[in-house]
Formats: sequence, structure tokens, C-alpha cells
Amino acid sequence: MQQTALITGASKRIGKSMAIHLAAKGWNVAVHFNNSEKPADDLIAELSYKYPGQQFNAFRANLADIDEVIALIPAVVGVYGPFQLLINNASVFDPGYLIKTSPELFELQININLKAPFFLMRDFASHCKRGNIINFVDTRITNNKSNFAAYSLSKKGLWEATKMAALEFAPAIRVNAIAPGVTLAPEDRDENYLLNLAQLIPMKRPGGIEPIIKSFDYILENQHLTGQLLFADGGENLGQNT
Ligand SMILES: NC(=O)c1ccc[n+]([C@@H]2O[C@H](COP(=O)([O-])OP(=O)(O)OC[C@H]3O[C@@H](n4cnc5c(N)ncnc54)[C@H](OP(=O)(O)O)[C@@H]3O)[C@@H](O)[C@H]2O)c1
Repeated sequence: MQQTALITGASKRIGKSMAIHLAAKGWNVAVHFNNSEKPADDLIAELSYKYPGQQFNAFRANLADIDEVIALIPAVVGVYGPFQLLINNASVFDPGYLIKTSPELFELQININLKAPFFLMRDFASHCKRGNIINFVDTRITNNKSNFAAYSLSKKGLWEATKMAALEFAPAIRVNAIAPGVTLAPEDRDENYLLNLAQLIPMKRPGGIEPIIKSFDYILENQHLTGQLLFADGGENLGQNT
């Protein structure tokens, strides 16, 4: 039986890499996007051409809007039937110390990075019944730096929700998380931004996508793994050795 994955924020960057990776392994991919319609369409065209026996479809949803969140899993089930893998990858990453955080900034980070994955996990469990959920958190959840206060809090919350869901949904659904560190520069920054940040981590270089894909494969293949967090961060979670 062909398996299907829904990847949120799949049209670019890490989400796109996972879509390409899963497609190469024979999966159908439901490509979720919000603003990136053209990149989503281009990705679907590329994958459909390369893997004509598999099914690739795009689904738009603004994950800041709870009605659109709640409509997403039923829409995917409507096309593919109950599917096997939910990847909560879509995210916003906006800076702001606690003292400077507006209610709007707070709500956006919490709604997109925590509330949306929470309800997508709920709906995956009720519509799909069996399978895997993988949540993208961030190595920042291990420290209390507040320069991205609302973002960090949203990811700390998502890690707690991962464990809660793992316990509630076992054994039918495994729920795990990946915590990237210095991986890709934000779209408005150049490579030097990343190279400078990487000097502060034990492995002294940006990880890129590969360690994430390896963690991802390990989660999928290890049938006894649930409620776990794999860091793909070059040791950043250990702190600084200076
Ligand atoms: N990149 C890194 O170095 C790094 C480091 C640590 C953790 N992470 C985590 O890894 C994951 C992937 O990172 P990334 O850098 O590839 O992510 P990204 O490019 O910042 O965002 C991925 C996608 O999220 C979607 N998104 C944003 N707001 C949305 C909304 N309101 N509704 C629906 N979708 C929305 C966007 O889709 P559209 O473009 O279609 O709007 C975007 O393409 C994230 O969860 C991130 O927190 C990344």
C-alpha cells in the first residue's frame, strides 16, 4: 500500500527537502502551504514528473486561523483517505525580548507554532487512527534565552505537547520531535549569518538538511520510539564550552 504524508510548510526549505526525500522513498505527499503557492505548484510538478505512480497535491491553509487549521486534515483525508504521517514543520520565527513582545507577536508565534500543531495532532488521531507524527521544535527549547521569547515558548510548548500526545495516542500513533539548530539562514539573511552563528556551537559548522533527514529516517524506522526528541544541532543543546 502506498503511504501518504502531510507536511506543513512543505513548499520551501526544510519542508521541501522532506517532501523530496519522502517522494524518493515511494510516499505520496500532501504539500501544505500558505503564501508560497507557486513554489508549492512547482514542487508538485517536479515530483509528479519524477514519480508518476505517486500522488502529490497542494493544500492551502493559514495556520494562524483556527478554522483553516481544523479544515486541513479532513481536506487531506478527502483526497487520500486516512494517511500515515503528519509532519508539523510550518513555523514563524520572529524576534523579540519578553519586554518588547506585543500581544500580536505572541499570538502569532503561539498560534502557528503550537496551537496549529496541537489541533493537527488531534485531528490526525481522530481521522487517521494509526501512524506517525513528527513535530519540529528547536534546540532553543533547552535554554532560557529570551531574544525570541514568544517563539521559544511556542517550541517549548510543542515539545511538551509531543510527549503528551505520545502517551495518549500510543500504541497506534508514535509521536516524536526533531530539534534543529543552526541549519538554514532565514530567507532575509546571507550565508555569513549562519557561519557566524555556527562558531558558537560545538561542531563549529552549520548542519544543513542532512542531519535532519537522518533523524527523520531514524524516527520512522525505529518502531519502538515514541515521545522522543532528536537534536540535529551539532551539540548546541550542550551549551557553550567557554
Ligand atoms: N531553519 C533553521 O535553521 C531552523 C532552526 C531551528 C528550528 N527550525 C524549525 O524547523 C522547521 C522548518 O524550518 P524552516 O526554516 O524550513 O521554516 P521556514 O522556512 O521559516 O517556514 C516554513 C514554512 O512555514 C509556513 N508558514 C509560516 N506562516 C504560516 C501560516 N500562517 N500558515 C501556514 N503556514 C505558514 C510557510 O509557508 P508559506 O511559505 O507557504 O507561507 C513557510 O514556508 C520549523 O518548524 C523551524 O522552527 C529551523
